[in-house]
Amino acid sequence: MLTISPALPRLASRVDAVHKVTVRVPAKVNLQLAVGPLNDDGFHDLVTVFHAVSLYDDVVAQEVPKGDGVSVHVEGAHSENVPVGLDNLAARAAELLAESFNVMPDVNLLLRKGIPVAGGMAGGSADAAGALVACASLWGLSASKDELHDLAAQLGSDVPFALHGGTAVGRGRGDELTPALARGEYHWVFALSHGGLSTPSVYRRIDEIRSDRKIAEPSLSADLMHALGSGDAEALGRALTNDLQAAALSLKPGLRLTLDAGQHAGALGAIVSGSGPTCAFLARDEEHALDLAVDLSASGTCRTVVRAHGPVGGAKIVSN
Ligand code: C5P
Repeated sequence: MLTISPALPRLASRVDAVHKVTVRVPAKVNLQLAVGPLNDDGFHDLVTVFHAVSLYDDVVAQEVPKGDGVSVHVEGAHSENVPVGLDNLAARAAELLAESFNVMPDVNLLLRKGIPVAGGMAGGSADAAGALVACASLWGLSASKDELHDLAAQLGSDVPFALHGGTAVGRGRGDELTPALARGEYHWVFALSHGGLSTPSVYRRIDEIRSDRKIAEPSLSADLMHALGSGDAEALGRALTNDLQAAALSLKPGLRLTLDAGQHAGALGAIVSGSGPTCAFLARDEEHALDLAVDLSASGTCRTVVRAHGPVGGAKIVSN
């Protein structure tokens, strides 16, 4: 019989004397990404439908001696491509939070990467959202959801959604969120590419491609919202769109082969995720996702494949 010694909790708290908080944050795929004209501030007005999926980064915020400042460590596949200095978005999140609440920004941030790096799935934004939530808890700040949202929007267009998760419509730069009425669970296969794409260069490329025409203001797809509202995966697959796809394909033409391979294997829909180069394939159900993953893997058109489901919740404290 298993007995629990009353001495154990005291022992555990002595061993675990360094205070740390772990926050888990999901990746996103854009079900629609409609890109308007370039504004004077260097950003484009967007209408996008964010969908959080079950690929996660863990952000561990750990107490350090007073005056040590912010440090960043990264673990996981391709973590060598993640900056560890103060140009890391998670470090900037910690600094911004500390400045807003008038506390010292002393913390070590360990980023455990499960989200593809530079893949168009908002991994860097997820880390920033995770750092906000983890540091607020570590430093004992009573930050409201609205306050965290405002700080997140200052850090990047995708950061607020990483806090909220679920399925949501994003407007403005992508940071003005409204929850979307979405039924059902969706099963996805993501094909990861060799190397990444830089988001600003993909936006620059779309401006070049469209320089010969007048660009209309973006609008929400009624077909997509109807598919989501009725939980119809087949209709959702048909309604997936991404205005950045042409730009990502022009910078990485090999992605066309990946998209074709997924379509050939029977995906309900196939798109580049965000600014790419990850490609997203919608499956009918979990079993179909497994078949798709096997076929895509065998096609030899991508580095690796991962499966995920959505929607899932946003940044959440998993241990404290
Ligand atoms: O907001 P974030 O830092 O993620 O944006 C990265 C880059 O993506 C911007 O510097 C800009 O070039 C481009 N971008 C844009 N319009 C948006 C969002 C991002 O042009 N709405």
